[in-house]
Amino acid sequence: MKKSAILNKYVNEHASIIMMLMDERGFVKKSNVFAERILGAEIVGKNIRNLILDFTGELSLDKLLESNGPLLLNVKTPENLPETFYFSFYKTDDELTLVLGEQSEKENVKLRQELLALNNELNNLSRELYKKNTELQQMNEQKNEFLGVAAHDLRNPIGLVMSYSDYLQDELRDRLNDEEMDILKTLESQSQFMLDLLNELLDFARIESGKVKLDMEVFDLLQLVSKSIRLNKPFGDKKDIRIDIKTALDSLPVNADMGKIEQVMNNLLSNAVKFSEAGTNVEVELKEKGGYARVSVKDQGPGIPEKELPLLFKTFSKTSVRPTADEKSTGLGLAIVKKIIDAHAGSIRVESKAGAGSEFIFLLPALGRK
Ligand SMILES: Nc1ncnc2c1ncn2[C@@H]1O[C@H](COP(=O)(O)OP(=O)(O)O)[C@@H](O)[C@H]1O
Ligand SMILES: [Mg+2]
Repeated sequence: MKKSAILNKYVNEHASIIMMLMDERGFVKKSNVFAERILGAEIVGKNIRNLILDFTGELSLDKLLESNGPLLLNVKTPENLPETFYFSFYKTDDELTLVLGEQSEKENVKLRQELLALNNELNNLSRELYKKNTELQQMNEQKNEFLGVAAHDLRNPIGLVMSYSDYLQDELRDRLNDEEMDILKTLESQSQFMLDLLNELLDFARIESGKVKLDMEVFDLLQLVSKSIRLNKPFGDKKDIRIDIKTALDSLPVNADMGKIEQVMNNLLSNAVKFSEAGTNVEVELKEKGGYARVSVKDQGPGIPEKELPLLFKTFSKTSVRPTADEKSTGLGLAIVKKIIDAHAGSIRVESKAGAGSEFIFLLPALGRK
């Protein structure tokens, strides 16, 4: 084999150099394997102007043909990624132009360096993020601990103020005038509110810190719900709100933390009464459905505007719906309720429209019946 034939074969089949022959109008007549790999299999017949990316819009065929030294040009790969080559153009003796394109090693090194730098930056950022995350977690735990300690330590002195004001009301009933008695009453009711708030905070801090342990036992949810309704009846009576129960069941056994589920019921029932106008009704419904015990608490109150529904179940989150008889509101109740239900692998949701009442529905895994 002649040396020139070997060289030809090599450049055609193996070399990493773009080689094309084009006619005087820029149409590709022939190409090597590498050119097809970079520019796509069907380049013969295409015009060089469609293969080279002209970012400046100033490139013309004449300019290409006249250029002597290698030109740094971008081509479009079938994956639509630009790649940079040094192109040289040589006139051949049969009126064609030999186009040779060589990958620019310098450009490649630059690209690789840029990639490396970006990668390092990304690594640094992830590390920074991880660090910040851990710090935040620690700070959050500290905050919860602080909240828990503060709430706990404040409970006793406030409890004391409450019982003393109660005691004084009894003792001084005959010696104080109405105004003075009112002050004592306010003292008592305000300390009651503080105590309730502290208990909620304590509950919340405990649940949030993951320290809450469920005391699971098998009990009848129907009985618990009935008891909860009984306990909330006096509050309903004050506002002439009746709380009814509706169920076809005579018992609904569940395996759950009885105290915590009672807390859930109290929260939902007190909300239903708190946010409803006097003279309306609250209906509690109990069902068993698809392996779940389903409890719904439905009121005829003002309902919650759709826009504000995402606010529910969040800490210290209240909606524009306010208590109707000046009852206290902290916005912690539903956040605690949700955490309790979630811990039981249950779920809670609300159905409510402004002006159409609210229905809070929660599900708990039911005990299969034989
Ligand atoms: N049954 C209800 N009807 C209308 N709005 C309600 C009802 N229950 C809760 N909400 C709204 O959700 C908010 C959060 O409730 P909750 O977490 O129990 O806190 P709180 O009872 O202390 O206000 C309430 O302030 C009220 O705006
Ligand atoms: Mg509440």
